[in-house]
Amino acid sequence: MSGRYLFEPQISPYFNADADLVLYEGDVNDFVQTLPDNSIKLIITSPPYNLGKAYETRTSIKAYLETQTQLIAQLCRVLRDDGSLCWQTGNYVEKGEVFPLDIFYYPIFKDHGLVLRNRIIWRFGHGLHASKRFSGRYETILWFTKSDQYTFNLDAVRVPSKYPGKRHYKGPNKGKPSGNPKGKNPSDIWEIIAQDWDEAVWDIPNVKSNHPEKTIHPCQYPIELVERCVLALTDEHDWVFDPYAGVGSALIAAIKHDRRAMGSEKEPEYITIARERLRAYFNGALRIRPLGKPIYQPSGREKVSQIPEEWKANTDRKETDIS
Ligand SMILES: C[S@@+](CC[C@H](N)C(=O)[O-])C[C@H]1O[C@@H](n2cnc3c(N)ncnc32)[C@H](O)[C@@H]1O
Repeated sequence: MSGRYLFEPQISPYFNADADLVLYEGDVNDFVQTLPDNSIKLIITSPPYNLGKAYETRTSIKAYLETQTQLIAQLCRVLRDDGSLCWQTGNYVEKGEVFPLDIFYYPIFKDHGLVLRNRIIWRFGHGLHASKRFSGRYETILWFTKSDQYTFNLDAVRVPSKYPGKRHYKGPNKGKPSGNPKGKNPSDIWEIIAQDWDEAVWDIPNVKSNHPEKTIHPCQYPIELVERCVLALTDEHDWVFDPYAGVGSALIAAIKHDRRAMGSEKEPEYITIARERLRAYFNGALRIRPLGKPIYQPSGREKVSQIPEEWKANTDRKETDIS
């Protein structure tokens, strides 16, 4: 455990300005009304995508967005003037037609005066194999700020440069290192995290159930994904709020970096797991993929990296036919 949390803080079931950790069991639309204006530094979430997952009832995209619009108005109210909102979404698919949710969300946030700073691509190598379109392998995070005065701690999230030895080859700095000794800007394509998440696939057939952080939740995001936003967009003691908290990944990311964490979640079983994970974090028993762990490179010797024997026979035959 680091920094301010020398003791496990109480998890408050309702908003309390003096708490460090709040986890509300119930509908976010009720919870958000209890929050003061201009109080949250970072709102970060992966909302339900209207896909008919276990925790949602599928409706038309129009009805889905109308409900979301009401909530977004409240979220903008509670967001601090120097705060950020990160909205992580993928696609809604209806009868084979793809609706990229961030495109639909963008005008709603713009109507509330938010300013887009990045559309981050979170790329991953696993997922469903499509047969009538290319398989989807990324989701996006829309990062908005409420004003032009916002926190951006770039140094806290720099990543190692590929070529740290590069030097200026002309101009007044000729011969001096051209990079930053603290590393480079991680850019708006977050592959590292995604590949880390994929890592388990190489040695273990089922990536999801074998990832160190995986719980029963069907759409959990990696803690590391949130950590980068927490470190870059907030300072210690700031409030981080995940309106659709699931099993508490964002809360753990926030607490890990000495921020105050708040979440709402309507499913009691996810709340139970979130509480267990928070407790495990404070006891040092939670398995978390470390932030910035180097990208896993398959050696080619793993069983899953090799061409199946049955396919080899076909390949040999084709090669013979061609020659
Ligand atoms: C995409 S999941 C988020 C998972 C989360 N990021 C994690 O890592 O565990 C969306 C979550 O929102 C919850 N949810 C859906 N509608 C809700 C509502 N009206 N109020 C509170 N939670 C809701 C669902 O139960 C689900 O756990």
